[in-house]
Amino acid sequence: MAIKKTEKIWYNGKFINWDDATLHVMSHVVNYGSAVFEGIRCYSQPKGPAIFRVHEHAQRLLISAKIYRMDVEYTRDELVAAMVDLVRVNNVVPCYLRPIALRGYGQLGVNPLDIPVDVYIVNYEWGKYLGHGAEEGVDVCVSSWSRLAPNTMPAMAKSGANYMNSQLIKMEAILNGYVEGIALDVNGYVSEGSGENLFLLYQGSLLTAPLGNSVLPGITRDSILQLAREMGVPVVEQMIPREMLYIADEVFFTGTAAEITPIRSVDKISVGKGVVGPVTKSLQREFFNIINGVVPDRFHWLTPVPVTSSQPVTV
Ligand SMILES: Cc1ncc(COP(=O)(O)O)c(C=O)c1O
Repeated sequence: MAIKKTEKIWYNGKFINWDDATLHVMSHVVNYGSAVFEGIRCYSQPKGPAIFRVHEHAQRLLISAKIYRMDVEYTRDELVAAMVDLVRVNNVVPCYLRPIALRGYGQLGVNPLDIPVDVYIVNYEWGKYLGHGAEEGVDVCVSSWSRLAPNTMPAMAKSGANYMNSQLIKMEAILNGYVEGIALDVNGYVSEGSGENLFLLYQGSLLTAPLGNSVLPGITRDSILQLAREMGVPVVEQMIPREMLYIADEVFFTGTAAEITPIRSVDKISVGKGVVGPVTKSLQREFFNIINGVVPDRFHWLTPVPVTSSQPVTV
């Protein structure tokens, strides 16, 4: 889906016009992928716009920056305030928020230590990631590409460069007729999708790969772990052999973009009966009830955006 531009972009503490947020081709980030970023959703609730787990996302941005020795001048709370402000100013809800900290223009050697770090925050209208009807289940494959090996690129950092690996996984899946690919880690254990964490229900327990299997510590993953525990479903973070994908009763992706997307087949082997399973359905229902403001936000996941003048543009 083409990006629909909004009026303003937050840039190093001030608002600039959308069209002015440009970079020089010789910026460090353009040549070496030196950026860390976040993807966040702001939902339209009956009481107004609310951003999902914005504090945790801002914190993860700072963690990613720390891993790469990038000095971000802003605190978590300053980044949160900037995001709330941006949604209010642009007045486009629901939307996707993309904060990004990047190495800008300086010198072009690989050494990034003297290159300034710029922070931008963009928001724009955004719909379903894995296509309409994805909530009914998608067909996926196991990728021939592995996820990043430990000691190569840190999977706990959400860095732009990691997504070169994600692009290989995604392109291969799409060109072979699947919606998404599941990557194994370098030792052959299940890791995650190109842009999603993965859960499976096996013998009554909900399993997901631990952080040691080269997965991003997903904020939706954490939300599902909390919801499942509340529902009394046993939750286990454990290494998952590939074949468990084929014999699990339920499999689903989680992520800011994918939200909760059931998987109905892996490598053309149907998952369970090939329809959305009861545990996935309950988690999906509860998750959507919270983000849509149908039930109270008992986990304090949502940060309201005060909209004073006019009603936000609902898209
Ligand atoms: C590689 C990868 N794994 C997992 C996730 C899910 O993370 P979150 O739930 O924080 O969006 C994402 C999305 O950002 C991702 O890109």
